[in-house]
Amino acid sequence: MAHLFSPLKIKNIELKNRIVVSPMCEYSSEDGFANNWHLVHLGGMAVGGASLIITEAIAVSPEGRISAADLGIYKDEHVEKLKQITDFIHAHGAYAGTQLAHAGRKASHQQPWLGGKQIASDQPDGWKTFAPSAVPFIDTEEAPIALDKAGIEQIKADFKAAAARAVKAGFDVIELHGAHGYLLHEFLSPASNKRTDEYGGSFENRIRFLLEVIESVHETWPKENPLFVRLSTTEWTEGAWTADDSVALAKILKEKGVDVIDCSTGGNIAGVKIPLKPGYQVEFAEKIKKESGILTGAVGLITKSHQSDEIIQEGEADLIFMAREMLRDPHFPLRAAHELGHEVKWPLQYERAKW
Ligand SMILES: Cc1cc2nc3c(=O)[nH]c(=O)nc-3n(C[C@H](O)[C@H](O)[C@H](O)COP(=O)(O)O)c2cc1C
Repeated sequence: MAHLFSPLKIKNIELKNRIVVSPMCEYSSEDGFANNWHLVHLGGMAVGGASLIITEAIAVSPEGRISAADLGIYKDEHVEKLKQITDFIHAHGAYAGTQLAHAGRKASHQQPWLGGKQIASDQPDGWKTFAPSAVPFIDTEEAPIALDKAGIEQIKADFKAAAARAVKAGFDVIELHGAHGYLLHEFLSPASNKRTDEYGGSFENRIRFLLEVIESVHETWPKENPLFVRLSTTEWTEGAWTADDSVALAKILKEKGVDVIDCSTGGNIAGVKIPLKPGYQVEFAEKIKKESGILTGAVGLITKSHQSDEIIQEGEADLIFMAREMLRDPHFPLRAAHELGHEVKWPLQYERAKW
């Protein structure tokens, strides 16, 4: 059997293979609402045979959006269309996940195809951003407001309410976006967290906000449902967040009922050079898996069936998160099964195209 197509049980779900659609912002919403773009985009990947489809970063509050066009889950009215999407995904044999997110100091930006720049808070589609400290991502940008205790409590409540809506919307998995320089990551990193209270300074203090958010989420997200956390497992910078910090955090997250660390990197320090090559982040998934014992997902320039299969076979990661290759070929899992000589069930409507 191809290792990529071995099932994996995680709490109350059993994935039929190891291919997960990695979260990908579509910047195609109005006031956070999902629409037919999301249905077709995500639904097509369920038809294509991925075992778990994770939506793009879904904002827990309007000011937690990267752009005014982000997907959101901050209103009860958002649930209906999301439910239609999860129903479709389920009907085609896949599980549905969503990536709860708050963009922190990286909020209030243009959509990438409009330039992707920060929008000043007094401009249309701009707003004041919040972060652990009043330190902008780029020196020339408007600084965020350092969150006070009330602000921290509000965001924890927003995550809790969002998780309750995720249950109603039929999601099977929540992934918390703790990577790429967004709010949860900003608290973790000494590069962006300059606080002197119990949320800043030591490692224990910097991870406190993430741990409290997890507790809040677990007030509404059933403990038997899988909970993933995406981390930037290194910031590729001396003196910043390191892979060893990620291992130490992963051990604690495992105790807190987190099931999978989705191992990305970077995004919190402007101008950092990332040594890109095929599978460039797999080593972090392997290190965290081996040193903490938690399940991990590998992501980043994994584009081939044999490459993916080897990562699973070698025990370097438990899951393959795939982003851009799934945009190029939403049916990649069907193709990979063929290339690896593994028999999978095709959608009946597509059977005449089977290799
Ligand atoms: C269009 C696009 C949107 C993305 N949006 C998100 C996102 O919402 N959340 C996230 O954690 N990563 C996001 N990413 C990063 C991907 O999930 C993934 O980590 C990255 O693209 C590397 O994987 P790949 O080489 O398979 O594309 C995005 C990537 C792309 C290409």
